[in-house]
Amino acid sequence: MSDQMVFDDLLHEEREFPPLAAFAEKAALRDESLHRAGAADPVKFWEEQARELEWFAPWKQVLEWNPPHAKWFTGARINISHNCLDRHLKTWRRNKAAIIWEGENYEFRTLTYQQLHVEVCKFANAMKALGVTKGTRVALYMPMIPEAAVAMLACARIGAIHSIVFGGFSPESLSDRINDAQAELLITADGGWRRGNIVALKNEADKALETCPSIKNVIIVKRGHADTFHLKVKEGRDHWYHRIMDGASSDCPAEQLDAEDPLYILYTSGTTGKPKGIVHTTGGYSVGTYVTSKYVFDIRDEDVYWCTADVGWVTGHSYIVYGPLQCGATILMYEGAPNHPENDRFWEIIARHRVSIFYTAPTAIRAFMKWGDHLPAKHDLSSLRLLGSVGEPINPEAWMWYHEHIGRGNCPIVDTWWQTETGAIMITTLPGVNTTKPGYAGIAFPGIQATILDEQGKEVTQGSGLLAITHPWPSMLRTIWGDDERYVNTYFSKWDKSVYFPGDGAKRDDKGNFMILGRVDDVLNVSGHRIGTMEVESALVDHPLVVEAAVVGRKHDLKGQAIVAFVTLKSGAMMNREVIAELKQHVVTKIGAIARPEDIILAADLPKTRSGKIMRRLLRDIAEGRALGDTTTLADPSVVEMVREQYEEKYGD
Ligand code: WTA
Repeated sequence: MSDQMVFDDLLHEEREFPPLAAFAEKAALRDESLHRAGAADPVKFWEEQARELEWFAPWKQVLEWNPPHAKWFTGARINISHNCLDRHLKTWRRNKAAIIWEGENYEFRTLTYQQLHVEVCKFANAMKALGVTKGTRVALYMPMIPEAAVAMLACARIGAIHSIVFGGFSPESLSDRINDAQAELLITADGGWRRGNIVALKNEADKALETCPSIKNVIIVKRGHADTFHLKVKEGRDHWYHRIMDGASSDCPAEQLDAEDPLYILYTSGTTGKPKGIVHTTGGYSVGTYVTSKYVFDIRDEDVYWCTADVGWVTGHSYIVYGPLQCGATILMYEGAPNHPENDRFWEIIARHRVSIFYTAPTAIRAFMKWGDHLPAKHDLSSLRLLGSVGEPINPEAWMWYHEHIGRGNCPIVDTWWQTETGAIMITTLPGVNTTKPGYAGIAFPGIQATILDEQGKEVTQGSGLLAITHPWPSMLRTIWGDDERYVNTYFSKWDKSVYFPGDGAKRDDKGNFMILGRVDDVLNVSGHRIGTMEVESALVDHPLVVEAAVVGRKHDLKGQAIVAFVTLKSGAMMNREVIAELKQHVVTKIGAIARPEDIILAADLPKTRSGKIMRRLLRDIAEGRALGDTTTLADPSVVEMVREQYEEKYGD
């Protein structure tokens, strides 16, 4: 192995999908002009893009870069709530649907831009009446209901800094985040529907609030059936949303914020240590989310755009609320689970609302594959014209399935690589411009400079290495809330302090397309070969019986590490000795003997974070017979116990 190679280069993908003519004809962008402009002068590129938004006062300087600290559009004044709402009220979009909402229990609501504006202004005034002002931290612990977007936009309107905590997190996680940000207001709901049950958010929040002295007020949206789960309203502290909205004025001009005023904090968990409060600011984030929404999703006025994320994740921030609404899009918001009442709920929703752009995660796609092709086949998905993927590498077989069974061969797929920290999409294909290859996210978005470096910081032109971003970009994180030193150490200390280290491994094909190979922390080292998880997993998923796979390394006296694979099979498939041998051979055929798994373990399900990422760290603990590390971010703790039992059944004797 060459010293420069951080990962070995294993998986080879030859299938190519050039832009579809019918799509490209009407696409917002059909050529590489923006890529060229961004490459020639990124600062000028972003400045030109920024002019499409409304600013209250112009910038004095586009970029002030004191590595690793960046300021964008310094001196300018802007408000993202104004750009999401008021800007459209002056046009015919005033009466266009901004949010089409479907409750899990089949309730429906539609809010036009005008109606959303009124709600947001009233709620902003209601918060002001509770003492919330510019800079106040406001925690949100909400189900997926329109009021979540209203609360975000209302905070943004008055310059309060929101910190959304995903509604599936425990009271302890909520209180940790509230305390770290010293939030003064918590916005929650009595409950929200999930898989046919009501998740009693306010009751959970009450447990958290026992240890949150900074919280002065709580606002409760009435969504579920409050009386059925003994909701307590604490006099003086707790306020019903509908009561404080009653009589609130709808006159609330957007605060003219400095471009560098914080917009929000969003906590993201690292592999070790406490969660990091990623801080995004107003101006640059507005520009980044707007421009990427416009070109990556090619949003048009007649589209119904559906991103299936939760507002508790960055995808929900950037590509449910802020990006698409700045584009004047009609967004669909769905409250509940994909498998309620049946496994085809998503396809039912697409058919009902004639969804045209659909953005989801590989973990969901693999679940759909497992549930069977007959489910999407039952529904009319002909309204779809563009598909997107985010959150994990999409294995080529999952890509092909998405392309055939959901896109029916007619929809480009944009595989979007980015992070909570980057704020906006960084690597992808533009659907009317670039040729796509399954498994490859694509090239850097215009104005973004991405490359691959080795450990020493030398550029890797052949093979794989560490993904690096070499120039600042407007929507980048500015710091970690309360811990700037950790910001510097985590993201800007791997090489030169002007180069951002995302923590992912990657390789490029001869056309410069990036394949993301997985988190560097998950890398395997077999006989001196550093192997990315994505390639071995994709080889397994390529086998017709396999839906999902996670590979980890287990200590091995000779090889350093041996590969252990945990796999989930298609419904109805059985694991036996022949299948195991076949799967091992399949990996050897696809990749080579070096990647041959030593063990293959059948898993009914894989342990995942609440945002759907496979937690290989816990599988490593199982494979090495250790006590499990921190499991607080697990979506379903029973899964890991089940996997452990399955593992021990096989190796316990
Ligand atoms: C992974 C989600 C491959 C990656 C927006 C990244 C991906 C982390 C992709 C960030 C993709 C996200 N292909 N890997 N298209 N998108 N990732 O902060 O490891 O929840 O570093 O942001 O997810 O996850 P986060």
